[in-house]
Amino acid sequence: MEYKIAWASPSNIALIKYWGKKKDGVQLPANSSISFTLDYCKTTTHLRFVEGEEFAVKVSLDQIDTPSFIPKIEQFLNRIKSIFPFVMNGNYEINTINSFPHSSGIASSASGMSALALCICEIASKKGLLDTKNFFQTASVLSRLGSGSASRSVFGPLSVWGEHPEFEGSSDDYAIPYSEVSSIFKNYCDTILLVHKGQKTVSSTVGHNLVEDHPFAVARFQQATRNMSEIKSAFKLGDIDEFIRIVESEALTLHSLMMSSNPYFILMKPNTLNIIEAIWAKRQKDVVKWCFTLDAGANVHFLYPSEDRETAIQFIEEELKQYCENGAFIHDAVGSGPEKMTY
Ligand code: PMV
Repeated sequence: MEYKIAWASPSNIALIKYWGKKKDGVQLPANSSISFTLDYCKTTTHLRFVEGEEFAVKVSLDQIDTPSFIPKIEQFLNRIKSIFPFVMNGNYEINTINSFPHSSGIASSASGMSALALCICEIASKKGLLDTKNFFQTASVLSRLGSGSASRSVFGPLSVWGEHPEFEGSSDDYAIPYSEVSSIFKNYCDTILLVHKGQKTVSSTVGHNLVEDHPFAVARFQQATRNMSEIKSAFKLGDIDEFIRIVESEALTLHSLMMSSNPYFILMKPNTLNIIEAIWAKRQKDVVKWCFTLDAGANVHFLYPSEDRETAIQFIEEELKQYCENGAFIHDAVGSGPEKMTY
């Protein structure tokens, strides 16, 4: 039996960061996290699966054969085979296209893994193994097994992953959609300033593992839990000052954890700090409510309300662009989640 499926799934940017896994289980987070789902940065995956043929995986990225992705995909299929055994019984042709440039330094694991997970769920539902009601939740479980943060890409405009007493229905196994936010946060802008487009020196898998014996681990997990409660209230009230305080602290904490692990490492570059300083100086000088967050890399996510779009873009052009590699940045904003495509 041949299946031809296509899904587009977005990237996401965590505001409260997932950094560190539980010791037991597969890809269970040590603390809960919340993210903006992005609109522009996404992966579109076309999957052709021929069930019954010998197991084999062929992958292309932007029309180019990319065998280096195969081990990660095979590991993913091995992890999900207890949920859907059919995944080991067939031949895969996977064609992925990213809306953002491959060499941009933007991680494609969240969008890529969630797009693939959605395609697999679609096959499962065609086979009568998954009903509509559980479709996205199961897609989030599968995505999580591919890459932790991918669990959150399945939902928009915001998404919460990890059990937290104040987020009803939250779970370590899958993410849930979150939209109890003031309207200002539903179309928030995120311009990704591409400071360094090269490969990261330390992968997030290695980084997560280093948190296990980290001297600050317990305090960090408690802090994240507290920050989740506080950001929940900031979202509801539309309190941007509180939002900024929490989000910037989370970004710097993430990188402090890297700098204080054993072995220690730094993913920020001098221009990461130049951008942070420029944003802080701007906030001091003019009364703007603009801030930043960081991923596990050198790029900066510059966050601002959509009503400030014009002035924020002017600020990027005049002051921030100079710190980006070849002046490159990507305008993005909060989005609504994945979309089924025609094959
Ligand atoms: O999903 P992973 O294993 O690539 O980890 C992502 C970790 C951060 O991006 C740094 C934080 C997060 O919550 O997305």
